[in-house]
Amino acid sequence: MEPATDMTDWLVERLGRSRGLTILTGSGVSHESGVPTFRGKDAFWEKHRVEELATWQAFEAHPELVWRWYDYRRRGVAEAQPNGAHFAIARLEPAFDAFVLITQNVDGLHRRAGSTDPLELHGNIWRARCTREHTTTDLLDCPLRELPPRCEKCGALLRPDVVWFGEPLPPDEYERAYEAARNCDAMLVVGTSAMVRPAASLPLVAKHNGAMVVEINVSFTPISALIDATLLGRAGDILPELADRVLALGATGAARAPSRVHVR
Ligand code: OAD
Repeated sequence: MEPATDMTDWLVERLGRSRGLTILTGSGVSHESGVPTFRGKDAFWEKHRVEELATWQAFEAHPELVWRWYDYRRRGVAEAQPNGAHFAIARLEPAFDAFVLITQNVDGLHRRAGSTDPLELHGNIWRARCTREHTTTDLLDCPLRELPPRCEKCGALLRPDVVWFGEPLPPDEYERAYEAARNCDAMLVVGTSAMVRPAASLPLVAKHNGAMVVEINVSFTPISALIDATLLGRAGDILPELADRVLALGATGAARAPSRVHVR
């Protein structure tokens, strides 16, 4: 493993000659937009542990409470703007032959920044699903007009179309994410505590298959020792500069040039 470091020339150089880049993001990428993360000091809402609210059991027992939490989160996200990290990720997308953005975030900020097809592994906070018919629908009212909201067609409770603890990931999205991890040359892991599987396993899948894996985080995580490097710092500071430097290589025609630099 490379020592923890600031932005490094070898990372820029490696990204510059990678054809396949996969980026995995977590709630840390939206933190500078004012969206709370899940752990650390953001771990509670109105004295409830957020991890305990994000379960089917909590919803079944207290649907109005869980929807009030989602209404609070939706209002926060509606006021938030994508930050420099979201925009940098969107700028990197066209520079790679195979680019895949995988996010655990449900806030939709990557799309608002211009990313075209993020794989939303944990769903999207702006959609709801009928608990009876399992049909999904956009639910854009903000604040919600009815708490808890009900299906317009059958009157059953709606639930947020997100993945809760103990629930499987959407199989198509996960399969595409797994393939993107398996086949990429480089993976950036941005603002995730890497504690929630299976998303947290994806960097190790990439590493196992020969990719360079670098995380960008304000602190070390359980995967730090298992990957190539950790860039310690805020995603909104690091990613725009990284994108500028990688894109500048492309502009000078050097992005695809073979290199003798060997970092592993
Ligand atoms: P966490 O709250 O677990 O982790 C956020 C990570 O972002 C931490 O490692 C922070 O150090 C880092 N971080 C905070 N601010 C940052 C910044 N400005 N720049 C870079 N890094 C920063 O959130 P996730 O890893 O996204 O799942 O959590 C994963 C999943 O657990 C979530 O999708 C959610 C949650 O419970 C479900 O709800 C199923």
